[in-house]
Amino acid sequence: MSAPVPRPSGLPPHDVADLGLAEQGALRVEWAEREMPVLRLIRERFERDKPLDGLRLAACLHVTTETANLARTLEAGGAKVALCASNPLSTQDDVAAALVERYGVSVFARHGADRDTYYRHLSAAADTRPHMTMDDGCDLVTMIHQERPDQLDEIVAGTEETTTGVIRLRAMAAEGALRYPVIAVNEALTKHLFDNRYGTGQSTVDGVLRATNHLIAGRHVVVAGYGWCGKGIAARFRGLGAQVAVVEVDQVRALEALMDGHQVMTIGDAAPWGEIFVTATGDIHVIRAEHFKVMRDGAVMCNAGHFDVELDLPALADLAGGRVRTVRPNVQEYDLGDRRLHVLAEGRLVNLSAAEGHPAAVMDMSFANQALSAEWLHEHGTELALGVHDVPEEIDREVARLKLAAMGIVLDPLTPEQAKYMASWEQGT
Ligand SMILES: NC(=O)c1ccc[n+]([C@@H]2O[C@H](COP(=O)([O-])OP(=O)(O)OC[C@H]3O[C@@H](n4cnc5c(N)ncnc54)[C@H](O)[C@@H]3O)[C@@H](O)[C@H]2O)c1
Repeated sequence: MSAPVPRPSGLPPHDVADLGLAEQGALRVEWAEREMPVLRLIRERFERDKPLDGLRLAACLHVTTETANLARTLEAGGAKVALCASNPLSTQDDVAAALVERYGVSVFARHGADRDTYYRHLSAAADTRPHMTMDDGCDLVTMIHQERPDQLDEIVAGTEETTTGVIRLRAMAAEGALRYPVIAVNEALTKHLFDNRYGTGQSTVDGVLRATNHLIAGRHVVVAGYGWCGKGIAARFRGLGAQVAVVEVDQVRALEALMDGHQVMTIGDAAPWGEIFVTATGDIHVIRAEHFKVMRDGAVMCNAGHFDVELDLPALADLAGGRVRTVRPNVQEYDLGDRRLHVLAEGRLVNLSAAEGHPAAVMDMSFANQALSAEWLHEHGTELALGVHDVPEEIDREVARLKLAAMGIVLDPLTPEQAKYMASWEQGT
């Protein structure tokens, strides 16, 4: 594979699969934009006010149509963006091409990149000597901390998109290893309540359907992890008529699953019961050898958590003794002799690998939080202590306000009497 090529023709430095896909990519980016009214409003203001002037930003995100609209917004604000992929299977090559060719954004991302290429692309983004990072999963931040400590003083701040990234950042901060402040965009209410729940819920079902074309009605679906993603996944599968069992390690979340109407069982009990398994825990080896051994013939497994470690695939490959074949796009069949088990998208994020990721309408809110957090950090980043910070509450509320306004939904203001009552304590029974 060729190294990133700076093009004299005016194209920014890039390494993408095929610039010839730019036209198709641009059409899809525009299609997504229609569903992203909040981000569009922010872009229009950024175009006028240029609040990010002079900012070099390295972003490690899924290279999708929605991310393209975020990158356009940041560039409209005056930032120079270098984008690399946060997952080798989620890159949409046509979008990468459009970003370079139509929108002048530096992109280093190819669908299906091997591990070396993946990290070479992160390096290429870091080579732009960013003042800010925008990460999804914390790979860019850890790479810079481990391999490029000389750059840490140049970086004012960063943002992080997902739960697993926030967990890693908090671990770094606890060890005193984190060298610049990071805003945890995932923790914004207008992010995880919608993106993790409704976005992952719908797109995970989409990924399973596109990969398998299985009927969901009547099927036994096991969802491991009843966090924000798991709740959405379980609800959407049930909506299609599945019987859902939830596997949890947290008592409160297990109770919540039960009272939401799902069965709750251990992974040991779920293994022979389930027909479709979806992990969304952010944990490692949730489904392991002892579970593969008792699964039904034809069981389908996939993962919606950030990393591809939730299914113990090396153990499954051992059990199959090398009898693994691709039977459909994104479906690998492991032949255990008496039974065949199926793994979707190599255990990577099924919603982004076998489908197109979250619908744009939900990413509108996540990426509005990203754009506004970048603006806030550009102004206030140097005032922040080292560590992981919440999205400022005013940004979170503003995103909700703009989204409702874009949907034409008007709320009741409190009457003066109600406002007074809600702020008082005298009046009781
Ligand atoms: N697919 C996507 O597009 C997408 C979107 C957002 C987040 N994510 C990722 O999905 C994962 C989950 O995110 P979330 O926001 O739901 O997190 P969360 O912290 O809200 O929920 C995770 C749940 O998993 C449970 N859990 C942990 N280990 C377990 C185990 N061994 N067995 C069963 N349950 C276990 C936890 O108790 C918790 O309730 C993270 O890796 C996150 O980064 C993916």
